Amino acid sequence: MTRKVFTKLLGLFLLLLVFQAVAVQLILRRFMENLPPERLHQIDREALWAGLLALVFALPLAAWVASGVTSRLQRVVDFSRHIAQGEFSVRLNPQGGDELSAMETALNQTAERLDSNFAEIESRRHELATMLDSMQEAVVAVTAEGQVRWSNAVMQRIAGTEIRVGRPLVHSVRDPELLACIRGAIQSGEVRFGRSASLAPGKMLEINAAPLPSGGALAVLHDVTRIEAAEKSRREFIANVSHELRTPLTSIQGYVETLIEDPKPSPETTREFLSIIQKNASRMSRLTEDLLALAGVESPDYKLAVQPMRASALVQDAIESLGGIVVDSGVDLESAGAPDTCVVADADAMNQVFGNLIENAVKYGKSGKKIIVGARDAEGCVEFWVQDFGPGIASDHQERIFERFYRVDKARSRESGGTGLGLAIVKHIVAAQGGRIWVETELGAGATFHFTLPLAARPGSNSATPQLSGQA
Ligand SMILES: Nc1ncnc2c1ncn2[C@@H]1O[C@H](COP(=O)(O)OP(=O)(O)OP(=O)(O)O)[C@@H](O)[C@H]1O
Ligand SMILES: [Mg+2]
Repeated sequence: MTRKVFTKLLGLFLLLLVFQAVAVQLILRRFMENLPPERLHQIDREALWAGLLALVFALPLAAWVASGVTSRLQRVVDFSRHIAQGEFSVRLNPQGGDELSAMETALNQTAERLDSNFAEIESRRHELATMLDSMQEAVVAVTAEGQVRWSNAVMQRIAGTEIRVGRPLVHSVRDPELLACIRGAIQSGEVRFGRSASLAPGKMLEINAAPLPSGGALAVLHDVTRIEAAEKSRREFIANVSHELRTPLTSIQGYVETLIEDPKPSPETTREFLSIIQKNASRMSRLTEDLLALAGVESPDYKLAVQPMRASALVQDAIESLGGIVVDSGVDLESAGAPDTCVVADADAMNQVFGNLIENAVKYGKSGKKIIVGARDAEGCVEFWVQDFGPGIASDHQERIFERFYRVDKARSRESGGTGLGLAIVKHIVAAQGGRIWVETELGAGATFHFTLPLAARPGSNSATPQLSGQA
């Protein structure tokens, strides 16, 4: 392009030179009209030679001036090309004080402004992308035609496939609920809500699709699986508590009404009814105590007064303090021995754990006539156990017995005053001390409940005693 400018400049210069020569010749002719023709010819020849000589000198000069202008223009053209390609860091080098250098300065300023604006837009875009990717919610934006404008990392993970920008969302996500919410938001121009259980297996997602000013929609998917589970467990808990309280309460009410309505009840009947009322009242009292205990161990504020204790001392204490319950039921309580290894434990909490386990062993396994309590060193912990030789627990109940209110034989357990909360409380206490609990059992051969406690740090060792508080 600049070659054309160069040729034009040079042509113009030559044209000017020719015009100037012709004009000079014509003027001279006017003044030399009276000269003889030979003299005129001679002057013409000399003028021609002078013109040719001037042309020889002027041509390179004109070429040099023209090439100076065109090379500066060429630099402006290159500069514009870089800017058009998005390279805003290029700059011109204005020289001299002519109009061309003023234009170069103005172009440099424009490029600088573009550079800084573009850098700001880029950094904002990165910030937004990082923010969206660090969100726990899945986010996807689509155009009015349903094509993906962008999506964050969580959305890609939930969809389980790459969600490509520019492609219809329906190609990557087939969840009808999500698509319906987005379509609804685009068509109505209003926020649409929904829930999807099929988009991510095992997850319940709450969908919130809002229309975008550009005509598309933005969908935010919030994982409410845990909230749902907590809500379900809360509902079940309330139902269980109500049910557990209603049974003894109905019984108390019935017997009290009978006594009131009977004008002359016999002393035997009165005693019998009152003893039933007392049994049900103490059952309700037991239930409220257990509920309070469970609320205590499940609370985030639950604190244990842990200290290093010998495993042998813990087993010994359990046998001594719980021997009374066992003697009354005609079962032998034996120690299988325990090492002197130090564990981190809370003495009162341990009493509660052994109390629940031994009480269960007596209640459900007394047919075995013997209960063994023991402990042994294990990998990084000490393992304690309470073993009975009763009927044992069927495999399908083994995991569930640690759940709140779960009882294998509801009627029998209730008959023996059980609320189904004992093992749930024990599980929390053991976990709060840094251990775990499980059962090994065989139908007809008894049940052994095992739990672990972490080792206490040896004097001089760097390993700190773990922080033991709150729930598991
Ligand atoms: N040693 C055992 N042998 C057989 N079954 C057992 C044994 N220990 C517990 N179970 C079963 O596990 C269920 C849950 O025990 P858990 O201690 O949580 O409740 P509970 O004994 O019924 O009531 P609570 O302990 O609150 O008085 C019991 O109802 C019982 O069916
Ligand atoms: Mg129990």
